[in-house]
Amino acid sequence: MSFDLERVRAEFPALQIMDAGKPRYYFDNPAGTQVPQRVVDAVSHCLLEANSNLGGDFVTAGLADKLVAEARSAMADFLNAPDSDEIIFGQNMTTMTLHLSRSIGRHLKAGDEIILSRMDHDANVQPWVLMARDFGLKVRWLSFDTDSFEFDLAQLDTLLNEHTRLVCIGGASNLLGTINDITEVSRRARAAGAWTFVDAVQSVPHVTTDVQAIGCDFLACSAYKFFGTHQGILWGRRALLEQLEPYKVRPAPDELPWCFETGTQSHEGIAGVAAAVDYFAWIGETMAGGQAAASLETGDRRATLRSAMGLLFAYERDLAEHLIGGLTSLSGVTVQGITAIDALDRRVPTVSFTHKQRAPADIARQLAEHNMFVWSGHNYAVEAAKSLGLYENGGAVRVGPVHYNSHAELDDLLNVLEDIL
Ligand SMILES: Cc1ncc(COP(=O)(O)O)c(C=O)c1O
Repeated sequence: MSFDLERVRAEFPALQIMDAGKPRYYFDNPAGTQVPQRVVDAVSHCLLEANSNLGGDFVTAGLADKLVAEARSAMADFLNAPDSDEIIFGQNMTTMTLHLSRSIGRHLKAGDEIILSRMDHDANVQPWVLMARDFGLKVRWLSFDTDSFEFDLAQLDTLLNEHTRLVCIGGASNLLGTINDITEVSRRARAAGAWTFVDAVQSVPHVTTDVQAIGCDFLACSAYKFFGTHQGILWGRRALLEQLEPYKVRPAPDELPWCFETGTQSHEGIAGVAAAVDYFAWIGETMAGGQAAASLETGDRRATLRSAMGLLFAYERDLAEHLIGGLTSLSGVTVQGITAIDALDRRVPTVSFTHKQRAPADIARQLAEHNMFVWSGHNYAVEAAKSLGLYENGGAVRVGPVHYNSHAELDDLLNVLEDIL
């Protein structure tokens, strides 16, 4: 058994669509992925057969309860959370982070310190800057090396001290593609007595995520980036979540996870989360070798998911190598991220580049004329774009293949780019 691209692509109806005879080249995945048929089916099952609020005695309510419980358990396996009640659903990562930041802020006192990174998406920056403003906290900044596109954790050691309460860090950069050593960051933060909040939105679609192995305290992600629905997911350690005061209305339950879930959730979105996890389990079961198949039989979904992610990472690493090799051979192009072959294990295949003369938005527009979908700009990685001097200059062009993309698609992209540039 091995990775079977054609079988994977057949799962995604959107990959078969043509526009005026042209295939669609989905390289906009860091902004949102396409979904397999099973996600569409789960959403329609929810809306057609289980469309009810939770907790009632009638059939639809029972089905909705079951569906949400299953999604929580699937997500707990996907993140290796010890307890599915630690999985909280919400609108999206940004909204959930803003929401949690109020509860964390209330827990801290004026003069406490937090550490933010200059590589992160603004969803893991500004909620904490606002929290610091509202609760009188001091912000310290972890910068990255603009040549290696990585953090130097020796700098983290100089920022951590007895006042540090929280370190906020990304699993992978949505602009540079760098995978950060969040396990080591969490270890150092913990040693200093601080909590770690991980923005895993861009790492979860590409790498195995194990909150227990990472040793972080909170981790947030978004299912629409990992082949699911527009749905935010937040994991937090039970012992910490129970210390925090949730901002909630009075009739809402006081217990986890309900106390952090404001109002009525998007049950159809939550149904899609379970189906997306099921899609990864299917890859593990059908393509990732006997070990995974054996573990499914014994009901070990976690092991199956782990094998799937290992298989996909290896394939995506090849895609990244191919893309980076092609881009660096184009005249006038600079890749804004890790390019060394022996360092490709430390990046996801999200590759941003600039051209010495052409504006990123123009390049993206011309690619769109060929039905090739990419984003340009800072992509909300405000601090990272500023650090690289890209913020005022239109940012970069971001090409973000995932495991359903092919080497042939990348070749077509590189040929078109050569003509455009
Ligand atoms: C790294 C990262 N964090 C956070 C977000 C925000 O996620 P959401 O749209 O779920 O709020 C994004 C979205 O692109 C992202 O790439």
